[in-house]
Amino acid sequence: MNIQQYLQEKRELVERALMRYFVAPVAKRTETRYSNVLLEAIQYSLLNGGKRIRPILCIASFEAAGGKGDGILPFACGLEMIHTYSLIHDDLPAIDNDDYRRGRLTCHKVFGEAIGILAGDALLTEAFKLMTDPSSHQAQVVLEIVNEVAQAAGIFGMIGGQVMDVESEGKSIDSLTLLAIHQNKTGALIRVSVRTGVKLAGGSPEVLQAFTTYGEKVGLAFQIVDDILNVEGDKERLGKNTGSDQTRKKATYPSILGMEVSRRTVQELTESAIESLKPFGPEAEPLRAIARYMIARDY
Ligand code: IPE
Ligand code: IPE
Ligand code: MG
Ligand code: MG
Repeated sequence: MNIQQYLQEKRELVERALMRYFVAPVAKRTETRYSNVLLEAIQYSLLNGGKRIRPILCIASFEAAGGKGDGILPFACGLEMIHTYSLIHDDLPAIDNDDYRRGRLTCHKVFGEAIGILAGDALLTEAFKLMTDPSSHQAQVVLEIVNEVAQAAGIFGMIGGQVMDVESEGKSIDSLTLLAIHQNKTGALIRVSVRTGVKLAGGSPEVLQAFTTYGEKVGLAFQIVDDILNVEGDKERLGKNTGSDQTRKKATYPSILGMEVSRRTVQELTESAIESLKPFGPEAEPLRAIARYMIARDY
């Protein structure tokens, strides 16, 4: 299959849905100058660039598990909104203090810290509103998904991982702590993106188990590749600064385990992610191709 074409098609699908579900209705209701600023900041961060890997994994898992139609889109978009909020807050001076993101100045650099914080807050809240639209799906499965997404984004997921990441700056930590940081700050949201797709498709427990293993492996590999690209990637291509992890003495795979082990770990994780899809046929081909793309990516 042509993975570039697949990714582009799904990216466009997600971007059209983000406009349709989120921006257009909000824009219609925007009456005050103040909320216009908020909306501008959200659109600036959400709709410009981004690989959309979480919503694409969500859609690919949904379709591989037999899901049909566009009922997955509110969830795919919600996951991208949570991710984008995490990037806006991650870039703030109090956290990673980054000036560039997705090829342009970071949200707080353009709109100020207060609006950056509030734009992140709004994206997180609106994500849950979107996913719980009463007209969309069966209540029970939505309830389960939303609860899982909240767990993955919360204390025992992304936020917990971000706290460990910040607290580990400049310290020497062991490889198990490093693993926990990466599994939580990045792995959890990627894992739940895959699980959301399977659950909404009504996939069997066996499918859910196999795809969850896949999600865990690619989720961890994704953050290790992010660490590697911070060392040797191209700033223009990445659309964000390189070398910043070393400057901030971040706990990363290259800094703690070295470049060779980092590369080998990514390779092994990718192989074993693909291996976990062995019981499946061509329906899982996009997921295999995404795993291969995630390791070979240069941005
Ligand atoms: C960057 O995520 C932060 C991590 C969790 C590694 P992405 O590499 O998915 O960033 P975008 O969405 O493509 O900008
Ligand atoms: C951030 O990890 C993970 C998040 C939950 C936002 P990084 O700090 O490595 O992500 P980048 O390099 O800023 O994109
Ligand atoms: Mg960062
Ligand atoms: Mg990084």
